[in-house]
Formats: sequence, structure tokens, C-alpha cells
Amino acid sequence: MINFVCVGLFEELIEAYQNYSILPRALQKGIAKIDFVNIRSYSKDKHRNTDDYPYGGGAGMVLTPQPVYDAVQAAKQLSCGPVVCLSPIGQTLDNALAKKYSELESMILLCGHYEGIDQRALDLTVDEYVSIGDFVLTGGEIAAIVLMDSILRYKNGFLGNTQSSSEESFENGLLEYVHYTRPEIFQGLAVPEVLLSGHHEKIKEFRQNSSLEQTKKHRPDLYDIYQNKHR
Ligand code: ADE
Repeated sequence: MINFVCVGLFEELIEAYQNYSILPRALQKGIAKIDFVNIRSYSKDKHRNTDDYPYGGGAGMVLTPQPVYDAVQAAKQLSCGPVVCLSPIGQTLDNALAKKYSELESMILLCGHYEGIDQRALDLTVDEYVSIGDFVLTGGEIAAIVLMDSILRYKNGFLGNTQSSSEESFENGLLEYVHYTRPEIFQGLAVPEVLLSGHHEKIKEFRQNSSLEQTKKHRPDLYDIYQNKHR
């Protein structure tokens, strides 16, 4: 069981994720719990404002420190885990990081918006920063969903069988092998014979080769690292 406490402005985005694909069943089975603390609810401003112009001028708006700080304090009532802020300045997410977080019982995911969050609120609350890649999103909720999804795949019972995540791309430094399902012939293209043979050793060998070929073709950078390691 892992409890994600998201702190942000747009709960609808997180709700949409919760209601999609295999999430509803995972939540029902108690593999995960997702809470949302809305920064706006903690604003002491009379109009419930959460942003203001940046000191020093410049484009965009900045989330004010008070509602962010108070919302994180409220989230801490629900989780004693680390406060992880989704931001382009963070450590780039990969499966190793997702796996590490999957060992936690809970974590707080702080989702920023607009140009950013007042630095004092960050300095007072954030333990770690995570980025989902070298690009800028309009809001942290999208990144939080990506992070939660990558973590959940490592939780027991989330995927159909325990093998699923161990055979996937990146687990052994390679991309995953290619997949086929019915029909045997589609648009004149046949499924590789070996997959129909029932010969487990040969299927294993086919998949190992396919994994190497896929990596060489699509991620030559990973392929070179793999080759150097297994020389
Ligand atoms: N918020 C905005 N851009 C982001 C990114 N690339 N990763 C995580 N959070 C973000």
C-alpha cells in the first residue's frame, strides 16, 4: 500500500487518472490511495487567490508562499513521507527512481503552476525535486500522474502478474522484445513461427534477440552501454 498525497490546484486532473484503466481496481484492492489537498482551500486571501506578480518583474505569475506552505502542512497530517516537488529542476525520473519510491508507504507530491512557487515556500517544505524530462509543462499535476503511474507498476498486485514489470523495457538495460497476438496473419504479415512452436527455450532466445535488436535500432545509446558492460 502506498499513499500519495497530491498538493496542487487542479484535482480534476488527478481524479481523471484515478478513474482510468486499472487504477480503480488497484485503489479498491488497497494497493494505493490517492489524496488531494487543494492549495486554493488554504488561501487566506479574501478572494482565495493563490498567485501574484513576481518581484523584480518579468512574465507570468508566481504561487504565493502562504497557501502553498499551509497546504503542505495539511498534507503532512496525512503522510509522514517525503515532500517531492514536481519541477523541471529535479532529478530526471527513470525506472530506478520509480522503484525506489515504490518502497515508501507514503509521499507528498507538490505540484506547481504558472511560473513557479515562491522560493521561501519551497525552501521550507520540499525534500526532493523530480522532473519527468527536459521540457516544461503547464502544471505539476500531469507530472505527478506520470510519477505515480511509474511507481505503481512496481507495487505487488498492481499489474496482472508479478513477472510483468521485471520483463519490461529498461529492467536489464535493454528495451523490451516485440509482441504479437491474434490473428496469425494480418495484412499479409505473419507472426514469427517460433512464437507458435510452443518451444520455450527457442521463444526465450527469440525474445532475447528481439530485445537486443529493438535497443540497437531505437536506443543506440543504451545499446552501446549494454555492449560495453557485457563484453
Ligand atoms: N512541471 C513543469 N514541468 C515539469 C517537468 N518537466 N517535470 C516535472 N514537473 C514539471
